[in-house]
Amino acid sequence: DASDKGEFRHYMLKEIYEQPKVIAACLEGRISDDRILTSCFGADSAFLKDIENIHIVACGTSYHAGMVAKYWIEDLANIPCTVEVASEYRYRKVAIPKNTLFLTLSQSGETADTLAALRMAKELNYLTTLAICNVPSSTLVRESDLTLLTNAGAEIGVASTKAFTTQLTALLITSIAIASEKGELSAEKQKALVTALRSLPAYVDAAIKQDEAIKLVSEQFANKHNALFLGRGPMFPIALEGALKLKEISYIHAEAYPAGELKHGPLALVDETMPIITVAPNNQMLDKLKSNLQEVRARGGELFVFGAKETGFEQAEGIHYNEIPWVEEILEPIVHTIPLQLLSYHVAVVKGTDVDQPRNLAKSVTVE
Ligand code: G6P
Repeated sequence: DASDKGEFRHYMLKEIYEQPKVIAACLEGRISDDRILTSCFGADSAFLKDIENIHIVACGTSYHAGMVAKYWIEDLANIPCTVEVASEYRYRKVAIPKNTLFLTLSQSGETADTLAALRMAKELNYLTTLAICNVPSSTLVRESDLTLLTNAGAEIGVASTKAFTTQLTALLITSIAIASEKGELSAEKQKALVTALRSLPAYVDAAIKQDEAIKLVSEQFANKHNALFLGRGPMFPIALEGALKLKEISYIHAEAYPAGELKHGPLALVDETMPIITVAPNNQMLDKLKSNLQEVRARGGELFVFGAKETGFEQAEGIHYNEIPWVEEILEPIVHTIPLQLLSYHVAVVKGTDVDQPRNLAKSVTVE
């Protein structure tokens, strides 16, 4: 029952712990042993083949999920993809290339700007409209041509957690389906991706097991006023989401930057009072990230690094390292979100804020 906190002190923590289960529910009936079951997009999935462009529109945490999807869609399906916040999209003239899919992301399906963007898009020349949404009875679902439900169950904590990771799961399903229908994925590659997806609930469960260790780290944030999150590639939107979570519930000012932009401004803010948080990817960007982190360390910044053992990070002076499980690269944005959710949760508890009902914020922004 979603309205029962059970053994948990806050809904947010309960919802973080529910993620293995709800990600499994999001995958249920959508994958076979070796491919995506395209019937999950409705009876007629022919539109997948016709897509030549994608416009993603969303707000808040859902917007960050869209930013991750851009990396997946362009990488796997070789299709141009733009991502925009709904409040900007709805008030400008948008150029729409032929055969563009209009894709909205929303936990509630009631966000005023996202709905207005959809209504505008329906008057324009899109191929079709698809909503990835958590609430089956929502206005967004009713008004979109197609829907892929995230199946996360009711989310009560204002800071979105399980809705985000299930959106990412649904977006990865969508990206693989489009890539495959467009002939961009070999059967073998599709099978490998689907096999990775099957392991996702177990990986997320393993990441949650770091809870106690992350709780200890959170104590270091009790007196901080600022924090800087760094990421590269699809870990950049995860850094943005980590910074959003921290500011929403702990009221610590937090910013996120693509690590490569460090020298273009944020480095000026770094001194011994500034914590820098990063989730390390295990790919060719790792060395570049490490050299960015050295620059931060050289200026006295205190590093908080989450990464798999394979990344080679270790605990050292000024470096707080927390191990998270190794996962296939494609899944890193989903699994690496977990330590940042736990970090912001525990920091908020240390600071004594109202975790589930942060000041000035609403679960769903239904008026402009
Ligand atoms: C509010 C919520 C956020 C959410 C955003 C978009 O700001 O507090 O958690 O990400 O709205 O909501 P949606 O329901 O459209 O995903």
